[in-house]
Amino acid sequence: MTTSRRRFLKTVGAAAPALLLARTGLARMGSAGGGGSTTVPLFELPLNIPPVAQPVGTDVAGRPIYEIRQRNASVEILPGLQTDILGYDGMTPGPTITVDSNQEVIVRQINETNVRTTTHLHGGHMPAGNDGHPVDNVDPGTSKDYYYTNKQVPATLWYHDHTMDVTGDQVYAGLAGFYLISDDYERSLGLPSGDHEVAIVIQDRTFAADGSLIYRDNIMGELGDTILVNGTPYPYFEVGTARYRFRILNGSNARRYNLRLSNGASFVQIGSDGGLLEAPVTRTSLDIAPAERLDVIIDFGQASVGDQIILENTAGSGGTAQIMRFDVVRVEDDPSVIPSFLRQIERLDPAAAVQTRRWVFSMGGGGGTPWVINGQPYDENRVDAFPRVGTTEIWELVNRTGMMHPVHIHDIMWQVLDVNGRPPAPEDAGWKDTFKVPPGGTVRVIGRFDDYVGDPNEITTAYMMHCHILEHEDHAMMTQFIVVE
Ligand code: C2O
Ligand code: CU
Ligand code: CU
Repeated sequence: MTTSRRRFLKTVGAAAPALLLARTGLARMGSAGGGGSTTVPLFELPLNIPPVAQPVGTDVAGRPIYEIRQRNASVEILPGLQTDILGYDGMTPGPTITVDSNQEVIVRQINETNVRTTTHLHGGHMPAGNDGHPVDNVDPGTSKDYYYTNKQVPATLWYHDHTMDVTGDQVYAGLAGFYLISDDYERSLGLPSGDHEVAIVIQDRTFAADGSLIYRDNIMGELGDTILVNGTPYPYFEVGTARYRFRILNGSNARRYNLRLSNGASFVQIGSDGGLLEAPVTRTSLDIAPAERLDVIIDFGQASVGDQIILENTAGSGGTAQIMRFDVVRVEDDPSVIPSFLRQIERLDPAAAVQTRRWVFSMGGGGGTPWVINGQPYDENRVDAFPRVGTTEIWELVNRTGMMHPVHIHDIMWQVLDVNGRPPAPEDAGWKDTFKVPPGGTVRVIGRFDDYVGDPNEITTAYMMHCHILEHEDHAMMTQFIVVE
């Protein structure tokens, strides 16, 4: 295999090219609830709802074309201050793309920024070469048409930057947005919809006193001290006395959350990364790792007008202990239902697996690449697996470190067979693409490579597997595979 693309090795502490992020030496802003100078207001700003992208036209085959302009922008995130970001259409999160299963679309990503980018659709199953491979660069002033077939069950996906060595930097700077797939069946279920269906992305950020973002590229995982939901610090969201569906995405670089409601009420989880569960699961707390999605219903039907219910993070402290607030402002009828059966999930049979692959996530490697898989740092000239199209495989994800790694596999959705030998919790028993592999533990997953072969001589047709703590990914805890005939 040959490729002429150069690997841009990131060394610890080096500045990312031309990124508008201050890295060191800046005063930290006291964060909300932290006991310091509280300059980020709690629950004073309304939740931002990103606009829904509209197609600009169709191609010769009649496929809708969406155009997204990646831009350097200056936006007001903290009241009265300007923050330089990288944004899809100049905003963060970017516009929400909504499609139906099997509806083919083109998303034209136009890079008007000053940095090279590549755009990955996380959770998407699309023809090889359209996955946003880390070295499939879109240089400033150029564009790429990403072709998405949406041949998959409805789910909460997100698109985000995936550029070699600087994914953490560029997602932190704002390059992330929602991509929601639905279908007639899901719409027929009677789940909360319209303005009672809200996608929220939770991210932690650190701001300097002047409002600029501080990114230190912490090799253990970048943690911010201020929470943004859909780009708004600690927002409030006004609700009626009814059920709401929240598609929750942990879009943070490294932070894991444990969400609960301040009134002790339960969530009803209806879906995870890859779509609906077979049956709803009632939970009082939600553990969510980077890149995971939780589709939950919160029922405000028992609440009274005037109630204020805080979405808390029991895994956080100070400025990260609170996320947002739901303000009950009106009495409403509630036409929605939560069916006791949601969607049939085809169970993959371990006996059908033709191959078991073992992937060990550990530290070591040296040379500025402390994070490795099977003892090796990522190298775009090396392909570590060639699964055959049409076959089922079992992948064993083994964690030989003392911290959890949220391992993400591109291309297909998987089912968890077991976690440390035990069957998955019901909320993890649906289709998933990101797995919390516990410290010292093992997660076994099963998947089938139904279609979309790549070219073993064209590296950009590879799909990635990596830790979704973005600083681990950027520091080489990543590998790749090409699906072959
Ligand atoms: Cu969400 Cu390979 O990433
Ligand atoms: Cu992905
Ligand atoms: Cu990791």
